[in-house]
Amino acid sequence: MPILKSIALNDYTQLLVWKITETFDELFSSVALKDVSLARVENMKAEGHQKGFLSVRRLLMEAGYTDFDLYYDEFGKPHLKDDRHISISHSHDYSVIVVSDVNIGADLEILKDKTLKLAPRYMDISHLENLSQEDKLIKATVIWGIKEAVFKVKNVIGISFKDHIFENDFDLSDKNCTVELRVDNSVEYLDILFDFIENYVFVCAFEKK
Ligand SMILES: CC(C)(COP(=O)(O)OP(=O)(O)OC[C@H]1O[C@@H](n2cnc3c(N)ncnc32)[C@H](O)[C@@H]1OP(=O)(O)O)[C@@H](O)C(=O)NCCC(=O)NCCS
Repeated sequence: MPILKSIALNDYTQLLVWKITETFDELFSSVALKDVSLARVENMKAEGHQKGFLSVRRLLMEAGYTDFDLYYDEFGKPHLKDDRHISISHSHDYSVIVVSDVNIGADLEILKDKTLKLAPRYMDISHLENLSQEDKLIKATVIWGIKEAVFKVKNVIGISFKDHIFENDFDLSDKNCTVELRVDNSVEYLDILFDFIENYVFVCAFEKK
């Protein structure tokens, strides 16, 4: 049985989480796919990737949609045919979708040492001062997830994680923060929520209404 969670992030945003425990065949036979999606699945090399893709279609069904209601723009950002917004992420054993009335970006990241090693490349490392080694890894992963999530909201080529997206400092216990997206002398503020699922970090970035 999949572990499915449906969580209201606020009055207008729903998070759906799938723990992938099924075989490829079980997932494949439980969803109806458009031709273009079928071709994508067939071209994926890793079964893990295929299962992530198929489990997202199961989450769509839980949210009252099907694969036929979803399309991608030229950058790969997913959209729903009604006027609601969607964001998708999958990582190893989990997949998530977020459906909202506002433009959102969702990211799911597994905790892995490499994310902390690479921290100077994408974040202000002063935000890791005075933390235990374990919390440094968790916070760096949250911040990486924040940058991916903001990227998914904006969907603009050329956004640099280090030079354009600035996280305001936060404590891990806050489970929320704000970020500034600074591009071409203009500043846009986005709200962030984050949480933890086993050894994964979930992040959602919200464009202001
Ligand atoms: C596109 C990107 C955000 C995907 O993130 P990821 O962690 O690799 O994978 P995730 O599982 O979290 O997300 C994948 C989903 O993101 C969505 N997505 C892809 N491109 C997107 C875009 N331009 N905007 C919004 N969402 C997008 C898709 O739904 C995709 O899943 P699907 O195709 O199966 O439906 C990421 O690969 C990327 O390009 N990031 C920016 C890279 C960058 O600037 N790095 C700088 C390093 S300093």
